[in-house]
Amino acid sequence: MSEKFFIDVHGCQMNVYDSRRIVDTLTEAGFTKTSNSSDADILIVYTCNIREKAAQKVFSRIRALKTSKTKVVAIGGCVPQAEKKNILKNKDINIAFGPQVYHKLTRYILEVLSGQTEKILDIEFEQEKKFGHLVRRKEVSHSEFVTIQEGCDNFCTYCVVPYTRGREYSRPVIDIINETKELLQNGAKEIILIGQNVNSFASEAPYINIGQPKAVWRIERLIQEIAELDGLKRLRYTTSHPKDFTNELMEVHAKIPVLVPFTHIPAQSGSDRILKMMNRGHTAKEYLNKLANFRSICPRIQFSSDFIVGFPSETNSDFEDTLKLTEEVKYTISYSFKYSPRKNTPAAAMEGQIPDDVKNERLQILQAVLMKAQLEFNKSLIGQKYEVLFDKIGKYDKQYVGKNVYSQSVIVESDSNMIGTFGDVIVERVGQNSVFGKLL
Ligand code: SAH
Ligand code: SF4
Ligand code: F3S
Repeated sequence: MSEKFFIDVHGCQMNVYDSRRIVDTLTEAGFTKTSNSSDADILIVYTCNIREKAAQKVFSRIRALKTSKTKVVAIGGCVPQAEKKNILKNKDINIAFGPQVYHKLTRYILEVLSGQTEKILDIEFEQEKKFGHLVRRKEVSHSEFVTIQEGCDNFCTYCVVPYTRGREYSRPVIDIINETKELLQNGAKEIILIGQNVNSFASEAPYINIGQPKAVWRIERLIQEIAELDGLKRLRYTTSHPKDFTNELMEVHAKIPVLVPFTHIPAQSGSDRILKMMNRGHTAKEYLNKLANFRSICPRIQFSSDFIVGFPSETNSDFEDTLKLTEEVKYTISYSFKYSPRKNTPAAAMEGQIPDDVKNERLQILQAVLMKAQLEFNKSLIGQKYEVLFDKIGKYDKQYVGKNVYSQSVIVESDSNMIGTFGDVIVERVGQNSVFGKLL
């Protein structure tokens, strides 16, 4: 087979993981990956549906990437899962496949290439099946994602994920450990355990004591076991739901050195009334108490968060509660979004939708406050030593860029190639989004 494929990836880490597995599968089947879309016979767009105009964005990506050479256009991920057969109305799209069926993509591509079918839709929801079809990784980087859990049962009223990724499903522990071991044996140094809600992970233990029922492991136990694997230098996980964050997980942070002292723990809002309408399952006070408790158990811990402004009926006073919460926590980094009504979610039908100009204004105010806290945190790093895993070259000659334990970009100068290696860096100066230092 001489056909080349190009894959364009959007969305969260789950999509990055899936897209790498798609590359593995298609390469194994004999197709060749190209990083030049105009050279591709097969165009794959792997999509995200979390915020507005998702479908339109996909169509404009297809227009931008399709050439006279393109024989197959396949759209995967969360947009086809949400749009269902509507997506095939676009004349350019041959294959629309959901996030749970990428193991069948080779077959679908061959069907279209051979002229057997022109249009295929597959949005089946059998999460475990795709994991059963994982093929050996073709490329292993120094930092690799491992999916441990998928889907979400939380049904926050604004969110499409429970509809696009399905119910919560935890992969078998033994599969996770084997996949991680293989990555470490092939050069990975950092492992990032991923899932929509990793702290609701619950899966049967790999070891059976004769005569005993199988135990169930939660993420706390999984982390401890993975931390022992040879070759592992750094371990992260993302993302967590505040209500499922246990004391045991905080203790694991305090006692396991390879686990970074950093966690993403989205607050979304600081107003109890809005949190309730969002169905988040906790109040602002409960969230703050949890973080304070975390700091007392593991003093080095730092947090990042997501926020939504302009949720239906949000008043100025609700918004001020969000500002207050951010000022109390002092996040190292935060992501904030304007509320975007998503088809078929309860919040989209709520009264009191907020006009866009109000959302814009609130977003600007919130981002200014968050940026200020972020800069203050960055300044507090000056003079300190951090271990950095370098992953790319910088803008200027001899510059290398890597990540410290807080996932911040750290920039240094070096005569030798630092890519894929760890180095100790003393922080010398900081900017809003990066940290500059000297390699020891
Ligand atoms: N499972 C993860 C995040 C999923 S989406 C979690 O719960 O943390 C990432 C972020 O996108 C969310 O935390 C939320 O802040 C934002 N988001 C989700 N739906 C949104 C919507 N309809 N409008 C605006 N932002 C949204
Ligand atoms: Fe969406 Fe809420 Fe689930 Fe996160 S926890 S994926 S925001 S429904
Ligand atoms: Fe987007 Fe789907 Fe991830 S909607 S955020 S790609 S789970």
